[in-house]
Amino acid sequence: MSTQPKSAPTYVWEPTTDFLASKYGLPRDSIVRFDVNTSPTPPNLRDVLAGSFDPALCEYPPSDYAALVAAAAQAYGVGADELLPTAGADEALDLIARATLREGSVAVVATPTYAMYRIVSEQRGAKVVEVPRLGPEEGFRLDIATLAMAARAAQIVWLCEPNNPTGVLEPPERIGELLAVLESDARREGRETPTVAVDEAYTEFVGRSVLPLRYDYPKLVVVRTLSKAHALAGARVGFAVARPETLAPVTSFRAPASVGTVSAALATAALLRPELAAGNVARIAEQRTRLLRDLTEFGWRPYPSQVNFILIRFSSQSAAAAAAEALLRVGLVPRTFGPGHPFADCLRLTVRSAQENDRLIEAARGIPA
Ligand SMILES: Cc1ncc(COP(=O)(O)O)c(C=O)c1O
Repeated sequence: MSTQPKSAPTYVWEPTTDFLASKYGLPRDSIVRFDVNTSPTPPNLRDVLAGSFDPALCEYPPSDYAALVAAAAQAYGVGADELLPTAGADEALDLIARATLREGSVAVVATPTYAMYRIVSEQRGAKVVEVPRLGPEEGFRLDIATLAMAARAAQIVWLCEPNNPTGVLEPPERIGELLAVLESDARREGRETPTVAVDEAYTEFVGRSVLPLRYDYPKLVVVRTLSKAHALAGARVGFAVARPETLAPVTSFRAPASVGTVSAALATAALLRPELAAGNVARIAEQRTRLLRDLTEFGWRPYPSQVNFILIRFSSQSAAAAAAEALLRVGLVPRTFGPGHPFADCLRLTVRSAQENDRLIEAARGIPA
């Protein structure tokens, strides 16, 4: 019998910038990442930190991350006791899965969506039940009735709002409706309500949140990040946000000081300057309108988007693969969806700066849809 540990399901990225530069014989700095939904304008570090930075790198960060937590409490409108700083949203997702799931548990995922909900659930030995969203003609909305049915046997329901990769938001009232049904079903059947995790990685682009629902549904955990609208993906800072009694078990799984001192200082400064993220959101909205218009003009079929990425449907899986290859050859990296994925005939493209989007439009002009 093999003594090798079984490898766990894991996240798969598009190839790295160095790999692609070498494969396509392109200068490294000509490669533009349209695949990872980051914002193209990082905050000016000197400006953001503005004299308030005392890194003390020989020491650990304070165990309560008091300054970071205070800044996030103010930015998100929640109590300091409702916030757990994490190394990006991804660490929050992992900790929520650890706190909620064990071998044989059931996790419900509204699909297609961000791959990590399935991954962190399966890593805990849980069975994943997928509940497909409604089709594009119905705006990729949640199938509330089927979700509620599946949730009756589940320990957790994972939602992404606005959803990656469909790029649209379920109105928070509809999430409220779902939570009310989960609550009444559980009460009637005399069992605990499932945890509902809502990943709001892109919330700043829509300016709406389910956070107010945490009073009605105490097992709601919201996940936030500095990686998207705040343009700090490299810093790796996110949060789990929940009522203190829901947050406590999640907190207990985090390794001590998983958010580094430099990252915590950057995120604190960025959260105290909301106009920086607001500027990114405004610039991206302008570029999104222009990308949607221009791509549509030469026959591409983008779906509507409220966020910093656009999902585009091609005539077939091979047309999507050919478009991806044509973009890669000129150093533009799209997000692809593997064979078997419901969006295997789609590409997802991040909305980037005006100049970077110029390159995308120029390249896309000659690529059949
Ligand atoms: C929905 C969603 N959640 C979480 C993440 C990861 O965020 P972070 O960089 O904060 O780990 C991403 C990144 O693409 C995402 O799309």
